[in-house]
Amino acid sequence: MQRLYRKRIVLGVGGGIAAYKSAELVRRLRDQGAEVRVVMTSGGREFITPLTLQALSGHPVHLDLLDPAAEAAMGHIELARWADLVVIAPATADLMARLAQGVANDLLTTLVLATNAPVALAPAMNQAMWADPATQANRALLQQRGIRMFGPASGSQACGDVGMGRMLEADDLAQAAADCFERSLLTGKHLLITAGPTQENIDPVRYITNHSSGKMGFALAEAAAEAGARVTLVAGPVFLPTPDRVHRIDVVSARDMLTACEAAMPCDLFIAAAAVADYRPEVVAPHKLKKDPGSDDGLLLQMVRNPDILATLAGRADRPFSVGFAAETENLLEYATRKLRDKNLDLIVANDVANPSIGFNSEENAVTVIDRQQHETRFSQASKGHIARQLIAFIADRYHQA
Ligand code: C5P
Repeated sequence: MQRLYRKRIVLGVGGGIAAYKSAELVRRLRDQGAEVRVVMTSGGREFITPLTLQALSGHPVHLDLLDPAAEAAMGHIELARWADLVVIAPATADLMARLAQGVANDLLTTLVLATNAPVALAPAMNQAMWADPATQANRALLQQRGIRMFGPASGSQACGDVGMGRMLEADDLAQAAADCFERSLLTGKHLLITAGPTQENIDPVRYITNHSSGKMGFALAEAAAEAGARVTLVAGPVFLPTPDRVHRIDVVSARDMLTACEAAMPCDLFIAAAAVADYRPEVVAPHKLKKDPGSDDGLLLQMVRNPDILATLAGRADRPFSVGFAAETENLLEYATRKLRDKNLDLIVANDVANPSIGFNSEENAVTVIDRQQHETRFSQASKGHIARQLIAFIADRYHQA
C-alpha cells in the first residue's frame, strides 16, 4: 500500500554529510506514492548535486530565492502552498538555529515561514553539536511551535565519533513522513464516478438532455480525493471546474459514458451520480430537421433504450462496490429500493427532486441511503459539499465492511 499516495512533499536538503542519504529518501518517498520537490540550501549543494536530486525527483531542484526564472516557474510562495508536508533532511545545527530565530535568508527558511503545511526536521550533526545547549534549546523551541523531529539516531558518525546525531535512514524517514498523515478512508482505492447529464443528439443542432448540474457528483469526486482515493470522474456536459487531484474524462452521450467507464475499469468503488438519458433517438439525422411547410402535423421521434451503465458495471465479474442514485419525484424509497435490487447495488442514495430546495441544480441536498438489508440512513439538508463528505465517509465504511 502506498502510504503517501498523491501527497506533495517538499524535501529540504541542508549542508551536511548525511545529504547523500537524501537521494535515497527521494526514492523511498516516491515509492510510497508521493510527489517530491527538492529545495537545497547552498550548503546542501556542496555535498550532493542538484542534478542527482532532479533526476530522482523528476523535477528541477529549487535553489535560490532570488532567481527570476525559478520564481516565474513555481515561486517560493506557490511552493509553500503546494506542499502537504515539508521534510528537511538533513537539518543541520545552523538550519535549526535559523529556523528557531525565524530567519528567512534563503529559499528553504523562507518557505518554512510561508507554509501552512506541517514541517518535520531530520537532524544530522556531530554528537557534541547535537548535545550543545544551544542546539537543544532550538530543538525545544521548534517542537513547541509544532515542528516535528524525525530522530536523530545514535551510532557511529562520519567524523569518527559515536553518539546521538546520526540522521535516520531513508526508509525510516519515509515511514515517519507517512505517519504525519492520518490514514485516509480510501487511501490507494480507485473510485470511478459518473456525474452530470448526458446529451443525446437528434440532429447536428438539437439534443435531448435533463436538468442535472453535476454539482453532487463533482462534490463527491472532490470528497473522495480528499479521502485518499484515486478518482476517475466521467462527466457529461457541465460547466464545473475539475476538483483537485481528480482525473476527469468528458463525455457527451450515454454510450460515450459507458465506453469511458469500461475503459477506466477496474475500480474498487463505482458511484453513478450521473443523470443518464434512458432513451436516445434511434437515428441521428445527418442534417438539421426541417419543418414541413405544407403540414401542421407534429414530429414523431422514434427512441431506443440506452445501455444502463450502473447495471452493466455492477453486473461484471469484477464488479466494484456499486452505489447508485435514485432521483425521484414520488414514491422515493419504494422506487429506490427496487432499483437497488434490480441493478444489483450495494447502496442507493435516494433524493427527492420534486422538492425545489434540494436535488437538481440546487446548492443543497438531503438524501436517504438504503442498503441491501433495506436499512435507511438519513442525511439532513446541507450543502452538497457537506453531504458529499458525509456520504463518502459512509460509503467508505460500508465498503470496508463488505
Ligand atoms: O433507473 P434510473 O435511471 O432511475 O437509475 C438511476 C441510477 O442509475 C443512477 O445512479 C444513474 O446514474 C444510473 N444510471 C446509469 N445508466 C443509465 C441510467 C441510469 O448508470 N442508463
